[in-house]
Amino acid sequence: YTQAVRGQFFDITQPSDDPAAIAEHARYLEDGLLLIEDGHIVGLYNWSEGRKLLRSTDDVADYRGKLIVPGFVDTHLHYPQTEMIGAWGEQLLSWLETYTFPAERQFENEAHAIQMSAFFLNQLLSNGTTTALVFGTVHPQSVDALFSVAWQLGMRMIAGKVMMDRNAPDYLTETPEQSEQQTRELITRWHKKGRLNYALTPRFAPTSSPELLAVVERLRTEFPDTWLQTHLSENTQEVEWVKSLWPEQKNYLGVYDSYHLTGRRSVFAHAIHLDDDEWNCLQRTESAVAFCPTSNLFLGSGLFNLQRCQQQRVRIGMGTDVGAGTTFSMLRTLGEAYKVAQLQSFRLSACEAFYYATLGGAYALDLDNCIGNFMPGKEADFVVLDPQATPLQRLRDSHCRDIYERLFVLMTLGDDRNIWQTWVNGRAVWSRDECEVAA
Ligand code: GUN
Ligand code: FE
Repeated sequence: YTQAVRGQFFDITQPSDDPAAIAEHARYLEDGLLLIEDGHIVGLYNWSEGRKLLRSTDDVADYRGKLIVPGFVDTHLHYPQTEMIGAWGEQLLSWLETYTFPAERQFENEAHAIQMSAFFLNQLLSNGTTTALVFGTVHPQSVDALFSVAWQLGMRMIAGKVMMDRNAPDYLTETPEQSEQQTRELITRWHKKGRLNYALTPRFAPTSSPELLAVVERLRTEFPDTWLQTHLSENTQEVEWVKSLWPEQKNYLGVYDSYHLTGRRSVFAHAIHLDDDEWNCLQRTESAVAFCPTSNLFLGSGLFNLQRCQQQRVRIGMGTDVGAGTTFSMLRTLGEAYKVAQLQSFRLSACEAFYYATLGGAYALDLDNCIGNFMPGKEADFVVLDPQATPLQRLRDSHCRDIYERLFVLMTLGDDRNIWQTWVNGRAVWSRDECEVAA
């Protein structure tokens, strides 16, 4: 085998739309052995059985005392907003005008885009995130930069150039014709190149003319296996604005649906202020939503209704939504998701939370055949967690009675300090040791 890894392992072996079924497919190995060949998983075994499969030449990476989970999947964030994370004082629409658009303007500069792509992907890896669905800016070079760096790292990544042609500064708007041509060129260059995939990325309804959405629809028909990412019903002022811009549509999602932009591989970020018809439409079309708790709290957008989303059987992924979100850490994002549910008298279990951060996110992205757990044939992307990274965590962890309590404490107290190593394609691409040596 190219790699053999020993440690404690946790994953969910099968995706499900039914939250009650998630725990039934949970697997925990106290002393496990993961065998990897050419970047893919051969199998996950109990050490006592797995050791018999080892050949005399195999080296075993020994992570006893550490907890290994599938790589985290971040289903919504903006890499060009890394530098303006935590910008003070505004809600969505004025936040975009004041902070976001000027920051995104910088990505016209290719050198800046490359430098920020490297920084951004390092942030993902140092937080245990191995796959993400990412917004670039309107500039095609922003996406070229991100994909080039992700390609070198071997990461599974989906991204796209923002499309927008109105209600934004001149320096960030384009014509529908330019948008179509540049998007088509990017798809040709990057879609299905190794582990890279393209997402059509109309920013949101208010920055899209009817002509632009018609372009998106046309591209989607032409390239039916691309993804689509956008924003949906994040902020009440935004919802009112969409009503006034598209008076003929019955609701916000109706705008996207009328251009056939719903469906598998469509990921709608936020989805906070939805009516019954919109929930039903998400369900009927098998669309996915990205739950972005730190962003929704930070911008004061509202509380995502996780319980309703589960009842509707809509696919859910977790999103950090950097730079409106306040962290790259999926552990912290899960902790905030728990609190958002608490404010609505709903309980998010640790098992469900880790599902959404791994296999559930992969399922929301229609990538559950490739990533999300340790089943044979999957791509070997995983995180080695240190549940005892701080004195407080050491104390607290020593009082945990089972894996679920441990996972819950990780999402309550955890952050990037708990990431020991991050593996992509069967290779350790980020490690705390090296980070500390380098620093
Ligand atoms: N809606 C439209 N653009 C954006 C963005 O960049 N961030 C967030 N959070 N919401 C948006
Ligand atoms: Fe966003």
